[in-house]
Amino acid sequence: MPLTADPLTAANDAVAEILEATPAPKRRGTLLIVDDEDGPRQSLRVIFKDEYDLLMAEDGPTAIELAQKHDIDVAVLDIRMAGMSGIEVLERLKYVKPDIEAIMMTAFETTDTIRQALRLRACDYINKPFDLATMRAAVAQAMQRRRLESEIHSSAEKVQELLAELQNQRVEEQIAKTRGDIYAGIIHDINGPLAVISGFVQVMNQRLNRNSRMELEDLEFIKNRLGIVTRQTTNCIEISRRYLQILRDKPGQSAPRVNVKQLLHDLEQLVRVHPSLLENEFDITPFGEDVGVKVNGTDVIQILQNLAVNAFQCSPKNHRVEIGGEVLRAPLDLKAFKDGPNDRLLNVESLDNTAPLVKFWVRDTGPGIAPEVLPKIFQPYFTTKGPREGTGLGLSIVHRLIKEGNGALHVHTRAGEGTAFTVYLPGANLAK
Ligand SMILES: Nc1ncnc2c1ncn2[C@@H]1O[C@H](COP(=O)(O)OP(=O)(O)OP(=O)(O)O)[C@@H](O)[C@H]1O
Ligand SMILES: [Mg+2]
Repeated sequence: MPLTADPLTAANDAVAEILEATPAPKRRGTLLIVDDEDGPRQSLRVIFKDEYDLLMAEDGPTAIELAQKHDIDVAVLDIRMAGMSGIEVLERLKYVKPDIEAIMMTAFETTDTIRQALRLRACDYINKPFDLATMRAAVAQAMQRRRLESEIHSSAEKVQELLAELQNQRVEEQIAKTRGDIYAGIIHDINGPLAVISGFVQVMNQRLNRNSRMELEDLEFIKNRLGIVTRQTTNCIEISRRYLQILRDKPGQSAPRVNVKQLLHDLEQLVRVHPSLLENEFDITPFGEDVGVKVNGTDVIQILQNLAVNAFQCSPKNHRVEIGGEVLRAPLDLKAFKDGPNDRLLNVESLDNTAPLVKFWVRDTGPGIAPEVLPKIFQPYFTTKGPREGTGLGLSIVHRLIKEGNGALHVHTRAGEGTAFTVYLPGANLAK
């Protein structure tokens, strides 16, 4: 069945297909006649031989054997038989082939026996000696029932197949969407370092063109900027490698223990030269203790850099942005956090809340986030910036990276006062 992009259309197509499906070539029904008396057996043979494929049994065991070998639609069973009674045969036949329709032939049976037969899902009973028309009508009706049931059954199977296919399709769509998100993530994360690289290349070019002779000072300047360009390039390569690894579906190696002091130092190098810094005041407090974090180093830098860039960009007016961190030697008291118009805590469910934890904050004195905007900021592609200024992916990436690192994220904001993002990540003592 061809798959349509829209699951609803696919469902409609498939239903139409089921309805239009050319009916299976009609086969003659198969009728089993079970009677230990030769006379009625032969007269039934004469009545039905031209209409159905006939199978004859003179006792219960033969009937059951035939049912195991053939696809029988309807059985006509005499209740009173020597050896295995018709009721017993019915019970076993229904066990072997639950769909068989059975018509019981009764002579002097009590209503109890008949009730028992009906309980065992016989579809009809006929008094012996039977008249021809009644017997024909009963078998025809049973055959019709059997045909309808099998059609319903195969339609139900098709619907099941269809549901499975739709489910698969949804999974495929999900994978495609995840891939799309990952590609968008790569581009977003690489954009920052690329802006820095391109800015520095321009500055170096200007220096080179300004002087015909290189002074020692120029050489130092270019050497320093080249160092930054190299670091940014490595950063780009690491980011793309990390995401491509996700696409290849290889779980990353166990998170290395990165020294937080070193991380904040690297982050400062990147943020101080970021084009969004502009004239804003920026302060990064070096980390006091030697502690590790159980998360990939580039992930931490991406998280904090995204938060810092948002903080720089939150207002065209000059404002202050601070980054800092500390070690928490006790688990977080989650009861102390309350979501509200000014606060949100994310990832509580996947937080590895065991000490030591490393806490980072990125605070700004910008305009704050309005209460109606706050619930939306982590949605992918949500942005309040112009089309060329923001893609709305930054915070969704931050959210995902923190979740993957089993950390948590808290936002506190107040209109007119500013915003503080606090990141909690599982810490690790560094081997001495
Ligand atoms: N420090 C902040 N102060 C005020 N608003 C913020 C701050 N950080 C984020 N926001 C709000 O959250 C929105 C979503 O941020 P996010 O980083 O996901 O996307 P973006 O910054 O708009 O675009 P991109 O990150 O792709 O450049 C922003 O558009 C902004 O409205
Ligand atoms: Mg952003």
